[in-house]
Amino acid sequence: MWKVQLFKLNYDTREPQAVKDIIDSGWITMGDVTKKFEHDFSVMLGNNIKCTAVSSATAALHMSLLALDIKQGDEVIIPAQTFVADINVVRMVGATPILADCESYDDWNISAASIQKVITPKTKAVIIVHFAGYPCQMDEIVALCKEKNIALIEDCAHAPGAKYKGQNCGTFGDYGCFSFFTNKNLSVGEGGMLTTKSDTLDQQAKYFRSHGMTALTLDRHTGRSISYDVVQPGLNYRIDEMRSALGLVQLEKLAAANSMRKVLVERYIAKLLNIKGLSLPFLQLKAIESVYHIFPLLLHPEINRDTLIFMLREAGIQSSIHYPALKNFTAFKEFGLNAAPIAENIATRELTLPLYPTMTLEEVDLVCDTLTKILEK
Ligand SMILES: Cc1ncc(COP(=O)(O)O)c(C=O)c1O
Repeated sequence: MWKVQLFKLNYDTREPQAVKDIIDSGWITMGDVTKKFEHDFSVMLGNNIKCTAVSSATAALHMSLLALDIKQGDEVIIPAQTFVADINVVRMVGATPILADCESYDDWNISAASIQKVITPKTKAVIIVHFAGYPCQMDEIVALCKEKNIALIEDCAHAPGAKYKGQNCGTFGDYGCFSFFTNKNLSVGEGGMLTTKSDTLDQQAKYFRSHGMTALTLDRHTGRSISYDVVQPGLNYRIDEMRSALGLVQLEKLAAANSMRKVLVERYIAKLLNIKGLSLPFLQLKAIESVYHIFPLLLHPEINRDTLIFMLREAGIQSSIHYPALKNFTAFKEFGLNAAPIAENIATRELTLPLYPTMTLEEVDLVCDTLTKILEK
């Protein structure tokens, strides 16, 4: 149906072989392959980071808030321009979400300045998102969180391998939360990684992941332990060996795939920079290396986005929106979320074009030429 779809898997024979090897081995629940995935992910991030592989980024975000003891009466600052997981987890621990606005129409991330505006004595944590793979300006954010004694959680769902001043996203805050959902840079179907520099927070993560238990099923299987204690309440947010095996193959491909995304985005920018009816964000950022998770653009206010998406669809081009405004969802309409004018405006005008590492430059050209023709009409 689509001539160019929004996302395609970057899989070859290695992924099915990796899953087959796991099944043939007879051990499919979390075990040694997951440990290797955590180890290799930690090597990729550097900074002696500790990694806990989990079932999703949402699980990782939830565990972060639980481990940092965020609860009812606490306020957690989140970006106004983000996926609903960030606000959902804050509500799931009973805390109050407070929105920080985008820094500007060029930098859609939240910033120290936009966070500062909404800090109150009740603020206990801030969740930042490195939107579309573009790192936030971390020097100022880390300094602000330290000064105000606020916990910092990095939502790195868009940002595996992205760097600020040479340092990997997911290594700045108390916790980093990565997603391995299908359309992510590292694609496993469902999965995530919770990262931290702190031994204590790492231990907390491991307890929350697996029922607060001191020993895993594998430890008992291998005779390393006969029984277990439960030292605190916990959940089952484990990943399994099939997904960890997929994760390991995808991790090997990550750097090359991210480089390919960069080439494609450079072509997009060259083709679209001077097209009437749209503008391109994230062109002015300093000291960052993006991993180009998606290609978002901003339509001019007079353009009807729904009609445009429909016309692109008629021409075989899939497009999407990142993201509808949080305050318009039924679950949050009555909540009284604070205003975030830039993010609210972007939410009505954002359009996401196809981007994935196996996309060709010809496909980028087709998307751009089709979009340009529609906008000219
Ligand atoms: C910014 C952001 N945070 C969190 C998530 C949740 O990730 P997961 O599906 O792994 O729970 C997503 C997924 O789309 C996301 O884009």
